[in-house]
Amino acid sequence: MTTMTLNAGPAVAAGDQAKNPAAEQNAVKTNAEIVKTVGQPFSDQAKLRMRNVNVFYGETQAIHDVSLDIGRNEVVAMIGPSGCGKSTFLRCLNRMNDTIEGCRVEGELTLDGEAIYGPKVDVVPLRARVGMVFQKPNPFPKSIYDNVAYGPKIHGIASRRAELDEIVENSLRRAGLWNEVKDRLDKPGTGLSGGQQQRLCIARAIAVSPEVILMDEPCSALDPIATARIEELIDELRENYTIAIVTHSMQQAARVSQRTAYFHLGKLVEVNDTETVFTNPEHELTEAYITGRFG
Ligand SMILES: Nc1ncnc2c1ncn2[C@@H]1O[C@H](COP(=O)(O)OP(=O)(O)OP(=O)(O)O)[C@@H](O)[C@H]1O
Ligand SMILES: [Mg+2]
Repeated sequence: MTTMTLNAGPAVAAGDQAKNPAAEQNAVKTNAEIVKTVGQPFSDQAKLRMRNVNVFYGETQAIHDVSLDIGRNEVVAMIGPSGCGKSTFLRCLNRMNDTIEGCRVEGELTLDGEAIYGPKVDVVPLRARVGMVFQKPNPFPKSIYDNVAYGPKIHGIASRRAELDEIVENSLRRAGLWNEVKDRLDKPGTGLSGGQQQRLCIARAIAVSPEVILMDEPCSALDPIATARIEELIDELRENYTIAIVTHSMQQAARVSQRTAYFHLGKLVEVNDTETVFTNPEHELTEAYITGRFG
């Protein structure tokens, strides 16, 4: 498997562990005993700041005491086994969990120092500032053009046709879809292929110039060419935006992110710069995951 090129191989052979006191210390811990995130969860350039976040679905706790910063102009990748809480945590950041009945979020979450869950926060402008791209493309039942123009219109970013045309073209170009759709902008977005729909959703997300973009496995329906285009786009977007991306592809995490956060059963086990996570992880659970021992 190509992941092997990212791994340090059997880095946690007993001899190596002795050289890594943190790994040695963690090696004796069971998951229930993970009390503290190891590595570098904080940033002095925090755009998003999360402290002691707990998330519940009814009585069941899905996220346990997670603290993390996501910095300006930074891409943070979130990885971990299925069901570990990556999507749940990501949705806290723009209050998408508000739409799930019985879901409760506790803790301190701020965007540029302002409380995301403050009593006066209007979620509509919040979600324009913190945009989201989901795993399953969800175009509106509107034309391709209107899918992209809708946000700029409702948020008052542009109203004149010429301005909207420019935003639509520019967003579709950046999402790598323009050439495929430029002659059928008035056709329904739902008539595109799955991969094209996903790029349309990405164009829609960037059309409102968000400050933060949350991506939940955005490339899982894309072919390698479209995936490469999206990864390039993520790199471009980083110049101006802050990005959190959930991915099951460790190669993708390694290619696009500066820091990687490893979640396990609702806990944030380790956050470190991406190279460290994939070549010399601090926590043995991270190491077990990246070497394919579980997940
Ligand atoms: N709407 C919901 N209602 C109840 N429980 C939920 C809901 N959504 C998620 N959960 C539970 O919360 C936990 C975390 O789920 P989540 O979808 O965040 O995991 P994930 O890491 O994104 O997994 P995957 O990699 O499979 O997408 C799981 O135990 C899941 O069953
Ligand atoms: Mg998920």
